[in-house]
Amino acid sequence: MDAISALHNRVSVNLLSEPAATKEQLQNMFKAGLRACDHKSLKPWKFLVIEGDARRRLGELMADVKATTTSDGKLSDEERAKLLKKPFRAPSIIAVVADIKEHEKVPEIEQLLSAGAAAQMMMTAAHAQGLGAIWRSGSLMFAPQMHKGLGLSENQKLVGFLYVGQIKASKKVPHVNVDDFVEHW
Ligand SMILES: Cc1cc2nc3c(=O)[nH]c(=O)nc-3n(C[C@H](O)[C@H](O)[C@H](O)COP(=O)(O)O)c2cc1C
Repeated sequence: MDAISALHNRVSVNLLSEPAATKEQLQNMFKAGLRACDHKSLKPWKFLVIEGDARRRLGELMADVKATTTSDGKLSDEERAKLLKKPFRAPSIIAVVADIKEHEKVPEIEQLLSAGAAAQMMMTAAHAQGLGAIWRSGSLMFAPQMHKGLGLSENQKLVGFLYVGQIKASKKVPHVNVDDFVEHW
């Protein structure tokens, strides 16, 4: 697939299945992410691969963090079971993290944008290799307990979870009118 075609036709894929992306396919995604634009070459990125049993631990973390947001610190069995299942929606999950560096000329926002750009590059690289992927955050993504549970340090911020796998069902690329978004100033 040529680059323009990959860029124009990527869509998010909700319904993903096994087998997991190969090591080579994941490596290609990371290499794409590492080509994100990056002011002063700070490389403000870290990627956590969550596969196999680690998905069970992520589900438990999600449930534990969600429980801290309830008035009694508990979840119903049904709510807990729902959260435990979430990471099993894909064989691989990549947590994209902004690893914020102190720099007099590069504020945090620029480094967060760079990490977001890395995530998008990885999404396109997944698509270009015939994989399906969806970028998810969810209400717990900004919770400090989620960051702690993932082992992130104070200067690291979670940008999103990329769910990656084989395409079970896809959708059509929606038509958008370019002129609606472009003006000559
Ligand atoms: C930062 C960010 C967080 C997102 N979080 C979620 C999410 O938690 N759940 C979800 O269904 N979609 C989420 N989305 C949207 C999907 O990734 C996707 O972009 C959207 O469904 C549109 O589909 P498309 O990429 O095929 O246009 C998020 C997107 C971004 C950029």
